[in-house]
Amino acid sequence: MSALEGPSVRLRPLVPGDYPTLFAWYNDPEVVAPYDRFAVDTLDSFVHSVETAPGNPASLAPRFVVERRDAPGPIGFVGHYLAHPVLEYVDVWYVLGDRGARGRGYGREAVGLLVDHLYATTSVERIGATCDVENVPSSRLVEGLGFRREGTLRGALFHHGRWHDVLVYGITRSEWKGRARPA
Ligand SMILES: CC(C)(COP(=O)(O)OP(=O)(O)OC[C@H]1O[C@@H](n2cnc3c(N)ncnc32)[C@H](O)[C@@H]1OP(=O)(O)O)[C@@H](O)C(=O)NCCC(=O)NCCS
Repeated sequence: MSALEGPSVRLRPLVPGDYPTLFAWYNDPEVVAPYDRFAVDTLDSFVHSVETAPGNPASLAPRFVVERRDAPGPIGFVGHYLAHPVLEYVDVWYVLGDRGARGRGYGREAVGLLVDHLYATTSVERIGATCDVENVPSSRLVEGLGFRREGTLRGALFHHGRWHDVLVYGITRSEWKGRARPA
């Protein structure tokens, strides 16, 4: 698969040379899980999950590396997964592992490219995202893309020693097609 190009960032498939950087981020709770549960992984199982993800729609593995177009090299990664055993929607997730790259619009642009890609290559109707109610950057990221806040799952996520409420966001194919895009 070729890269997905935006104005400032691109998404490209992972290659083995990315694994050490991505694995280090993946295993750093301060990077990936300030508002999420965290489980230590092994490099072998990380690589296995990445390499088997293309045949597994429910895989939670990273699917694309995010990199700046003007400075190639990973700044983060994004993924998508079939989120429910019966309902047919896909959730997206996103991490900028390079914390110096945060707050510059790269995360939102990367998720926009991912949603474009999913609507272009699958028949999925609804794309969703969930985040801890306290994860302001994550909720603002998807709200800025036009995702609607559909509800709150109370006490749905345990991390940092207590249960947290989770916001549910979603956007439909027609909403995505009709949304106002940045000039
Ligand atoms: C969530 C994440 C990917 C956002 O990436 P980013 O590139 O920094 O986000 P963007 O620059 O595209 O900004 C998206 C929105 O978040 C806001 N934002 C970014 N950082 C913020 C911060 N520290 N505090 C408050 N708002 C913030 C931006 O202002 C923007 O909203 P606005 O346009 O309405 O003002 C990044 O913070 C991250 O990797 N967090 C850790 C992993 C994580 O929580 N992932 C999501 C799991 S659900």
